[in-house]
Parts: sequence; C-alpha cells; structure tokens
Amino acid sequence: MTQIALITGSNKGIGYETARLLGSRGYTVLVAARDSSRGTSAASALGATFVPLDVTDDDSIQRAAAQVEADHGHLDVLINNAGLIGDHAEARGLPSGTTREAVRQVFETNVFGVIAVTNAFLPLLRKAPTARIVNVSSEVGSISTVTDPANPLYQLVGIPYPTSKAALNMVTAMYAKELPGIDVFAANPGYCATDLNGHAGFRTAEQGASVVVSLATGETDATTGRLWGDLSLVGSADTNGVIPW
Ligand SMILES: NC(=O)c1ccc[n+]([C@@H]2O[C@H](COP(=O)([O-])OP(=O)(O)OC[C@H]3O[C@@H](n4cnc5c(N)ncnc54)[C@H](OP(=O)(O)O)[C@@H]3O)[C@@H](O)[C@H]2O)c1
Repeated sequence: MTQIALITGSNKGIGYETARLLGSRGYTVLVAARDSSRGTSAASALGATFVPLDVTDDDSIQRAAAQVEADHGHLDVLINNAGLIGDHAEARGLPSGTTREAVRQVFETNVFGVIAVTNAFLPLLRKAPTARIVNVSSEVGSISTVTDPANPLYQLVGIPYPTSKAALNMVTAMYAKELPGIDVFAANPGYCATDLNGHAGFRTAEQGASVVVSLATGETDATTGRLWGDLSLVGSADTNGVIPW
C-alpha cells in the first residue's frame, strides 16, 4: 500500500525537497503550507496534494488533520519541517539584547507548533502499520556542539533559534519515550542554502532533505529519540550519524 507522508512548510526549501524526494520514491505526498497560493503552486509542481496548514493556528491544524482523515484515514509519516529564525533584529543578537517577544515568535513555530501538529495527527499515525515522525531540528540545538571550542558553531551566540532547536530535541526525546510503537527522530539537515539563512549554507536543500528522507523511510540505523544527520561540522562531510545532545 502507498505510504502517506505530510510535510509541514513544504512549499520551499528543505521541506519542498523532502516532498520531491519522497514523491520520487512512490509516497503519496501531502504538501502542507500556510499560504494557499505558495502551497498550491508547490503541490502542483510536485504532482502532490496541497493541505492548508499554519502551525501557529490551532484551527488550521485541526482542519488539516480532518482533511487527511477524510481523504486517507491514516498517516504513515509526519515531518515537522516548518521553521523560522525570527523577524526580530534581536533574534540574531546577543542574549542580553533578546526580548520576550523575539523568543516567543520563534518558539510558536519551531516548538509549540510541532507539539500541536504532532498531537493533532497522532490519532492518524496510530492507525498506520508503521508510523514515523521526523522533527527537522538542527545541530545548533545541541548544547555540547555549540559549547565545544573545537566546533565552528562555538562562535554562535544567540537565544531564539538555538534554544528553540534545543527544546525541539527534548520534545523529540519525550515523544519517543511515550510512543514505543512510533519512531520519533530529530533530523540535522546540516547548513543548507535556503531563504532561512539568505542562502548562506554550504549544502543544498536537497542534501538537507536527504537526511530527513533517510529517517522518514527508515533507511538508517538511527534509533528513535535521537538527533541524527549531517556531520560536516565535526569534520565528516557527506556522512550522517548521531549528534550528541
Ligand atoms: N537551512 C538550514 O541550514 C537549516 C539547518 C538546520 C535546520 N533547518 C530547519 O529546516 C527547516 C526548513 O527550513 P529551510 O531552511 O528550508 O527554510 P525556508 O526555506 O525558509 O522554509 C521554511 C518553511 O517553513 C514554512 N513556515 C514558516 N512558518 C510557518 C507556519 N507558521 N506554518 C506553516 N509553515 C511555516 C515556510 O513557509 P512560508 O513560505 O509561508 O514562509 C517555509 O515553507 C526549519 O525547521 C529549519 O529550522 C534548516
């Protein structure tokens, strides 16, 4: 039977490439996006189905889950990809200049959105023979990585985005403990050139997506509840593995 996969924020970037790669492997792909024009055009380019879904809006999340239930009755793969760095200037600044609002804006999408979407889709995931959840996280949420003076990420100093991914890593670990029948992963796509970072990344969005797809399809030796993916910043380009918390 065809596997059904829903990817949040898949109208562009790593999410779009994840949708494309899963489609090429025969998955039925549900392109979830908050903007109907961007979502429709991405879905149509991919030959996929558009599902309106703003991860910060509970009504939108419930409507999306109801649509998937009506159309498919279950979900095999949920990929929590939607994410942002934040619009606030302080979001990129020093901890001492960070505001409550800057942190709240990023957590609404990168953390609270993941929890709300996951809980809305869990009843559908529980109906799948083998379900997987992939939370698109980052090595910048690995406290041991960003505090290692030998790692290039040691130079990173900022609160909203790194702390949101550290929280997402813990969210992943907690779901994995509660859900022994469902594999739950945090993915590290590596530093990829997308709109999120003004295309400064040295990897392509497709390379980042390939990490997500490996976890979504179960083609790795990664175990549930871990942060897994690109190891370029520890000196192993084109290699994936477990990243320490
Ligand atoms: N690029 C990297 O180097 C890198 C590294 C590690 C992790 N990541 C993670 O990878 C994921 C994808 O990022 P990207 O690099 O592909 O960035 P991107 O090109 O900016 O894509 C972000 C996607 O998230 C969507 N989104 C944002 N807020 C949303 C909301 N409230 N509801 C639904 N969708 C929303 C965006 O939709 P709109 O088009 O409507 O804004 C867009 O489709 C993020 O979680 C990011 O943190 C990226």
